[in-house]
Amino acid sequence: MAARGEATAVAHPNVALVKYWGKQAGAGNRPATPSLSVTLSGIATTTRVEAAPADRLWLNGKEAQDPKIAGFLAELRTAFDIPGIAITTGNDFPTGAGLASSASGFAALTTAIDAAFGLGLDRAERSVWARRGSASAARSIFGGFVALVERGGESVAETVADADHWPLAVTVGVASKQVKSVGSTAGMERARATSPFYNAWTTSTHDDFSVALRAVRARDFDALAEVAEHSSMKLHALTLTSRPAIVYWAPATVAALHALAQLRSAGTGVFASIDAGPQVKAFSALDDADDVADALATVPGIERVIRCSIGPAAAVTDAG
Ligand code: DP6
Repeated sequence: MAARGEATAVAHPNVALVKYWGKQAGAGNRPATPSLSVTLSGIATTTRVEAAPADRLWLNGKEAQDPKIAGFLAELRTAFDIPGIAITTGNDFPTGAGLASSASGFAALTTAIDAAFGLGLDRAERSVWARRGSASAARSIFGGFVALVERGGESVAETVADADHWPLAVTVGVASKQVKSVGSTAGMERARATSPFYNAWTTSTHDDFSVALRAVRARDFDALAEVAEHSSMKLHALTLTSRPAIVYWAPATVAALHALAQLRSAGTGVFASIDAGPQVKAFSALDDADDVADALATVPGIERVIRCSIGPAAAVTDAG
């Protein structure tokens, strides 16, 4: 397909079952530990890029400045001849509130730029570039169950199982639409520098990753539930023990955790995962998703419930 200087791409957020929180020293934005996620369907970022006299960004209808995007474009231009770009991007879900908008954002942006300006990247190369913008974005380039691991001196993402291998439901309870207080990049650096638990986190996450990968391959829900909740709780143990502490949870986050635990005691297979924000992501079988959504909707303070399942890779929707 000839590059036309404009293109539109769609990418989906992902939720990590084994979380990434902390980077290797040095350049390239490489995670300190392996992570494993599911790419979501049901919510998306759509990004259009067009050649322009200077870089400009419109985010959800408003002109914006984003140092992370500016830094990413500068890095891309060290490797490729790319003109000024007008970027128009929008999320159909709350931005910057722990729903991984940077993951879908950089995945969609990298995919659109590749198509618009003929970078000629294959999927793995696009993922490596998206990682430089935001490491979780490396995973949103792929669909289904996705690992981000070390291979050949590089941090690379790959699909480990397709979405139809194990069609789980991911039901998001939105506990607050406020933009998070401390971004992921700053939060993980603070944990590395100040949390007494950081070394335990990096060491134990390798085992969590192996256990979770086996559970996904075997479709063992109970095993996955145990290790995924543990990984999420450990991430929040790191943020709570950073100095100063970062409390990503809202009151409704805690209330939702209790509601899901109650549902589980009553026999429904469900587990919770929380990222750098107050939202609660509940994993269950598709058949149980109505019960999970009903339980979350009745939690005081939960503003909205978003129903997702496991979704596809980032893709170009309009190449000109
Ligand atoms: C809590 O990928 O946003 O969502 O690489 O610094 O941009 P940067 O961080 P980012 O961190 C995501 C953290 C997380 C856990 C996860 O998705 O694995």
